[in-house]
Amino acid sequence: MDTSRTTTAALMALAATLALLAGALARDTDYCYQDESEKYLLFASKTAYEFVRDSRRGAEILPHCTPLQVWWLNRHGTRYPGKSTIKSMAEKLPGLRDSILTNHQERSGRLCDADLEALQQWKLTVSEGQENVLTPAGEQELFLTAKRLSDRFPEVLKLPYTSSRYKFQHTDSQRTQESARQFARGLFTDADVVNIPPADKKDLLLQPYTECKVWLEGDKSDPPEWRKLVEGSLMQSLIANVSSRLGFRSDLKFVDVDTIYDMCRFQEAWDVQKTSPWCAAFNKDELKLLEYAEDLRYYYKSGYGDEKNVKLGCPLAKDLYERFNALATGQGEQPAGVFYFAHSSTLHMLQSRLGAFRDPWTLRADNYQYLRQRAWRISLMGSFAGNLGAVFYKCAPPGEPESKQVLFLAGEGPLDLPGCKVGLCTWEHVKQLLEPVAQECNLDWCEGNGATTITAAHLPFVAALLLALTSLHEIVFEL
Ligand SMILES: *[C@@H]1O[C@H](CO)[C@@H](O)[C@H](O)[C@H]1NC(C)=O
Repeated sequence: MDTSRTTTAALMALAATLALLAGALARDTDYCYQDESEKYLLFASKTAYEFVRDSRRGAEILPHCTPLQVWWLNRHGTRYPGKSTIKSMAEKLPGLRDSILTNHQERSGRLCDADLEALQQWKLTVSEGQENVLTPAGEQELFLTAKRLSDRFPEVLKLPYTSSRYKFQHTDSQRTQESARQFARGLFTDADVVNIPPADKKDLLLQPYTECKVWLEGDKSDPPEWRKLVEGSLMQSLIANVSSRLGFRSDLKFVDVDTIYDMCRFQEAWDVQKTSPWCAAFNKDELKLLEYAEDLRYYYKSGYGDEKNVKLGCPLAKDLYERFNALATGQGEQPAGVFYFAHSSTLHMLQSRLGAFRDPWTLRADNYQYLRQRAWRISLMGSFAGNLGAVFYKCAPPGEPESKQVLFLAGEGPLDLPGCKVGLCTWEHVKQLLEPVAQECNLDWCEGNGATTITAAHLPFVAALLLALTSLHEIVFEL
């Protein structure tokens, strides 16, 4: 019985393969993802850190300078998708997979055999219980980042652990807590002694936006520019091309294409050695357009596209400024390492408040062609485990007055703020940039009654202006 069943199964598999082969003979295959030697791996916020980090090695040596503090904000590492994404993957992908295979058997569709076979073997391995949990790859990202950092800044990061020397803080989620733990493991051989305090439910430093009524109100809907791009002719042409490549006679919906894109990029991040068969649905130009759509979305949700986002970056900018200012003036004790673990919005808002990754043009639905070389690129600034660091140095060159420098890092490479060189800024420059930010940092407007107060406060001014205009009018007509 068993043998004959095995034989039947083997024959059926053979028949399926033959059918695929027969299909291939009659098909134009425009592009084979499995064979692509230079895959496009920039997937915006779902990019694996390994694909984008600056891989230079060795200790950071600034002549005659000693680092006093490493200030570090890290996004959590690679995670599993959220609940709604897992749900749409489970609902849509097995059916789409079957249709794509059938389409090709019916000689419609242009995927190559290797991609089709990989798709045939694909199974959804993630279930709803895993939503948003840090993956093993994500644990590794944080662990290795910390290891590299301690080799690079041994004077501050290889001192014996004490809880006042190294400060850890993370938001209230499994993925940031576990990210903090893995980071601690990368820094200290005995990570169990490291004090990682439990998260506050409300963290006004790392997640001020979740407490900001006015911001949350605006966050409920999709940014209009993103809608325009998604409904516009460029995206419709992408959808048409993808649909025909997969063998569909009528166009897929954007949500289908988006779910395929999600599966593709999550799977690439979960195991950087393997490729996802779903990525075969797209060519490089299409992946770049989907990346732009994501960049556009975050530009308005957590970046320069909305002044509220920039303002919400001030608590962290202020924290950085105040710690460095204490070091510069020699007032009060400061840790050697300050490590924060949070989310993409936290990172984007701080980057925006600092003026990093800023383009001279506003990102819009209709200017993608002009922004192919943009600075605002989430893949490079906010991938999984993306980070922003600043190192405070005291320098004493012989025969010169003592000076202070700050090195800014993004993804372990130099982050150039305006007025800095290869990541390096004088403390005076940083102070000039951040002191006003720290002084103006006030989130009272989040409550939503700020606008009326301002109007009332300005009434006397408006009255005075009207009076002045009236007299001006009189003067002009008397002349
Ligand atoms: C879709 O395919 C057409 C024809 O090859 C091409 O001109 C167009 O640029 C493609 N669209 C996108 C968004 O890649």
